[in-house]
Amino acid sequence: MHKIIITGGTGYIGSHTVVEFQNAGFEVVVIDNLSNSQVEVLDGICNITGIRPVFHKADVSDADEMEKVFSIHSDAVAIVHFAAYKAVGESVQKPLMYYRNNLNGLINILSQMQKNNIPGLVFSSSCTVYGQPEVLPVTETSPVVKPESPYGNTKKISEEIIEDTIKADQNIKAILLRYFNPIGAHPSSEIGELPLGVPNNLLPFITQTAIGLRQKLMVFGSDYNTPDGTAIRDYINVVDLAKAHVIAVQRLINDKQVNNPEVFNIGTGTGNSVLEIIKSFERSTGEKLNYEITERRAGDVEKVWGDTTKANNILGWKAEVSLDETVKSAWNWEKKLRGKL
Ligand code: UD1
Repeated sequence: MHKIIITGGTGYIGSHTVVEFQNAGFEVVVIDNLSNSQVEVLDGICNITGIRPVFHKADVSDADEMEKVFSIHSDAVAIVHFAAYKAVGESVQKPLMYYRNNLNGLINILSQMQKNNIPGLVFSSSCTVYGQPEVLPVTETSPVVKPESPYGNTKKISEEIIEDTIKADQNIKAILLRYFNPIGAHPSSEIGELPLGVPNNLLPFITQTAIGLRQKLMVFGSDYNTPDGTAIRDYINVVDLAKAHVIAVQRLINDKQVNNPEVFNIGTGTGNSVLEIIKSFERSTGEKLNYEITERRAGDVEKVWGDTTKANNILGWKAEVSLDETVKSAWNWEKKLRGKL
């Protein structure tokens, strides 16, 4: 049985990815400092798969802690590295906190890979590295720009750190997955997104509004150059996204890479506007959503969606779950959280 280390494994995307690796027969070790997640997520994982992953409460940005954890798991075949801060607005207020945490974390992971001869890395990058693309959909060869926020810039710099490390040490094999907008929850409603405080992202704000925690959703801008005036994103089901990581690790283990690192867009290939997401929510759940159109949010791009042909053809991965089903899964998770399912 292959051992895999998942940093940030109690987080939103991380927890869904733990489940998919366990389903695929991997032994999963989770490293997470619980700074933006709860240890009870492990119960949810265990309720789905019947397996409780080995868990280390440890901070990836702490070199000494990583030294200790990796000395126990030097037999791992690969690392899936999620652990990082991800709030765009907060990163504008506290850039050094973001650079320190996200970049030191990655550097420590790469150092431990070298030290322990762990060859494979799957890194969670973001479509934020494309900024506002001039040509849509974006492909992996579309220009990478300096992102608007320090958070986004940590993703761009992280990709560069990985590329430079590989240039110097070909033993390290990496796949960079550029996610579009992950939404939804596991169909079991055992795990899902757990935003602390007021959510920044669209889907948790919608479900919290519908359940009565928020008064109304503010739709940020209706004067974009899009068919209905609201901004467009490529919303990808979190379980579909999680599965891409398993395929990526299998590709690394089986030595199938043609470039190092390899980069893949992970999205649906389709863009949806904010109003279309609201309609999908109302259609799939039968709930009415209270919302109001307001000003644009600073730093938001107008429209972005991905060309996922490369992931489809080379990884053999494709988004499968429909938008309505995905949005409904987010609603079921919200209801479960509030004891209403
Ligand atoms: C943001 C980040 C992205 C990051 C992702 C996950 C930017 C430019 N991008 O994506 O790098 O990977 O979060 O954390 O910040 N919206 C509303 N009302 C709300 C919330 C959102 O209208 O209350 C709209 C936004 O204006 C946007 C869409 O919904 O058009 C999606 O927003 P969000 O879920 O925050 O994701 P992004 O901003 O696309």
